[in-house]
Amino acid sequence: MDKDIKILAIESSCDETSAAVVVNGREVLSNVIASQIDIHTKFGGVVPEVASRKHVEVIAVVVQEALDKAGVTLQDIDAVGVTYGPGLVGALLVGLQYAKGLAYSLGKPLIGVNHIEGHISANFIQYKDLKPPFVCLVVSGGHTFIVHMKDYGEFEVLGQTRDDAAGEAYDKVARAIGLGYPGGPKIDKISKEGNPDAIKFPRAKFHENNSLDFSFSGVKSAVLNYLNQMEMKREEVNRADVAASFQKAVVSFLVDNSVKACKLKRVNKMAVAGGVASNSSLRETLIKEGKKNDIEVLFPEFILCTDNAAMIGSAAYFEYIKGNIAPLTLNAVPNLKLGER
Ligand code: KG4
Ligand code: ZN
Repeated sequence: MDKDIKILAIESSCDETSAAVVVNGREVLSNVIASQIDIHTKFGGVVPEVASRKHVEVIAVVVQEALDKAGVTLQDIDAVGVTYGPGLVGALLVGLQYAKGLAYSLGKPLIGVNHIEGHISANFIQYKDLKPPFVCLVVSGGHTFIVHMKDYGEFEVLGQTRDDAAGEAYDKVARAIGLGYPGGPKIDKISKEGNPDAIKFPRAKFHENNSLDFSFSGVKSAVLNYLNQMEMKREEVNRADVAASFQKAVVSFLVDNSVKACKLKRVNKMAVAGGVASNSSLRETLIKEGKKNDIEVLFPEFILCTDNAAMIGSAAYFEYIKGNIAPLTLNAVPNLKLGER
């Protein structure tokens, strides 16, 4: 395609309202993110109804700011890309309705984007020459997947969590040891002062030997049981040791299965995506194991790991060039599966 394609992208699936302008799926002209973390921290987690209302309040301003920062007008845009699932239905609807209104009034194509595909696509922004096939570990607050990305927009899910997402487990354990929300970055930080071998938290086992699935509710319950036992014995809890030991259990599970997935698919490139991809222990361990197994490990920069619209703009571009234009009847799909339209 000779002409540059500029996409205005909108993301509102959880507690970040974000808009971005992205050229040809790789070059970010702007990526404005209005986070609601401060509001939800008071409640110890995301309150869906509050999230929707906050999206409504800021969406117009965020979109305008993204256009201004990119130095473009709505007329310069070739298409409007928007997350339509998975996510909180009320939150998704705010961004989706806004995007549909813009696409209709401008007479420009609407591209519906899967949020998980967006997370994976953050790697196309970070690594300008990255092309499928590769294996991607997607680890966020709501999702944990190992995906074989065979081609643009073509995914095979090799493994996924059977209960809690990795980020969800981080958040719940952080709350239990009194670190507050969002727990991931706090556990990451305090773990550096703890001993990862202090407490042995178990890893879930499945009947199928070769399963690449995950389960994190068991390790979360093991932490809660440990805390209860310590309280009953009136012994003091070393929070750094609990955090570091929990983190070791989660990270080793993520790393082992991701390396197995690369070997299974004979792929020597692994991308990582989602909020938990910011985790320092996950980064270090994956790079170390990657070196041992001749696998190149790729991480987007922090701002592209957590929810943002630039990643949606990248995924929207690859859908656009395939001709995947959405009808204006597109609805929010809270449990949208990867690869499903
Ligand atoms: O991708 P994301 O921004 O939103 C979802 O789509 O879920 O991910 C948010 C999740 C939260 O659970 C947060 O605790 C976790 O990512 N997280 C981390 C770190 N930074 C964010 N988990 C572990 N270590 C981190 N450094
Ligand atoms: Zn996300």
